[in-house]
Amino acid sequence: MNNQVIIFDTSLRDGEQALAASLSVKEKLQIALMLERLGVDVIEAGFPVSSPGDFESVQLIAKEVKNARVCGLSRALKPDIDACGQAMSVADAFRIHTFIATSDIHVDTKLRKSQDEVVEMAVSAIKHARKYTDDVEFSCEDAGRTHIDYLCRMVESAINAGATTVNIPDTVGYTIPSEFGGIIQNLFNRVPNIDKAIISVHCHNDLGLAVANSLSALEHGARQVECTINGIGERAGNCSLEEIVMTLKTRYQSLGLNTNINSHEISKSSKLVSQLCNMPVQSNKAIVGANAFSHSSGIHQDGVLKGENTYEIMTPESVGINKNVLNLTSRSGRHVIKHRLAELGYGADEYDLDNIYTSFLRLADKKGQVFDYDLEALLFFDQQKHEQ
Ligand code: KIV
Ligand code: ZN
Repeated sequence: MNNQVIIFDTSLRDGEQALAASLSVKEKLQIALMLERLGVDVIEAGFPVSSPGDFESVQLIAKEVKNARVCGLSRALKPDIDACGQAMSVADAFRIHTFIATSDIHVDTKLRKSQDEVVEMAVSAIKHARKYTDDVEFSCEDAGRTHIDYLCRMVESAINAGATTVNIPDTVGYTIPSEFGGIIQNLFNRVPNIDKAIISVHCHNDLGLAVANSLSALEHGARQVECTINGIGERAGNCSLEEIVMTLKTRYQSLGLNTNINSHEISKSSKLVSQLCNMPVQSNKAIVGANAFSHSSGIHQDGVLKGENTYEIMTPESVGINKNVLNLTSRSGRHVIKHRLAELGYGADEYDLDNIYTSFLRLADKKGQVFDYDLEALLFFDQQKHEQ
């Protein structure tokens, strides 16, 4: 089996759906160009039929992006597919992503159609999309809650109709990893033509399991992951790109799973998306949170100074952060104070460490975090005392 994992970024489509205010065309292009530098394989640029602004931004992105496949979303309806085809025809190659719901609750309550009618709609949408491009993705919306027999039938029909990627979304973030991996395994066991398409997953994070579910799917044969920068997306968001990519890089080498992502661009990408989307990143967020590479307890700081991998499972440099942070608080030990003073240019012979450390602790108890300028003030004060 091919071990290359296709990274499909949907920050500009699923991610953008979650924002209080839409991004401008210029901002979308800025994010798309950054995603291209990051090395994503597919950029889902928007939903062209949804508004003239979306159409324009998908068109511009399709024109400007050269090193990633640009994709537009459409319902399984001809006008949506036509809008996608027209918006992206400026590019040499592009992907149309069409979808329809497959779970009983969506088919009965939302679509109010029979299962046979839904299969027919999917098949005719895929065939119509193939008139524009040979790269057609089909999604079974709410696949996580779809009866497995019907899901198998839908996947088989979609592939026969010409879908080259079939996406299995956990639209409402309901599944758990063993169950979601089981769904993918069942598809590989039961759908006769499954090897004619790439199986993709698109997991939402309502239970905080989007990354775990996506990994489980990869373990069972999926080879495309749909994700977003900082995990933005509908409700609790989508699988976070930085988390899945760094998990594959840090832990899945033994399975040989690789991506084309240049992880050194991760931090910059996260900051750009956070800023333009006006969505702050929580400080304890894995990989890109402000605390992800900062150490506070004295024991940890001492360990990191002796060897970074004592408390870091990846380097800050590997995700584009210059250096880790050792917070100076009342929990910091002498070792880190001496180290910080050396970084600031003060040799051990220029101060009395016992004195400085005692004043440091007094200040830290009052102030919380002690900054470099505080430390330097303590040092000058101590030197003056000795000169008097
Ligand atoms: O969550 C979902 O099911 C989607 C589809 C359109 C892929 O976003
Ligand atoms: Zn989604």
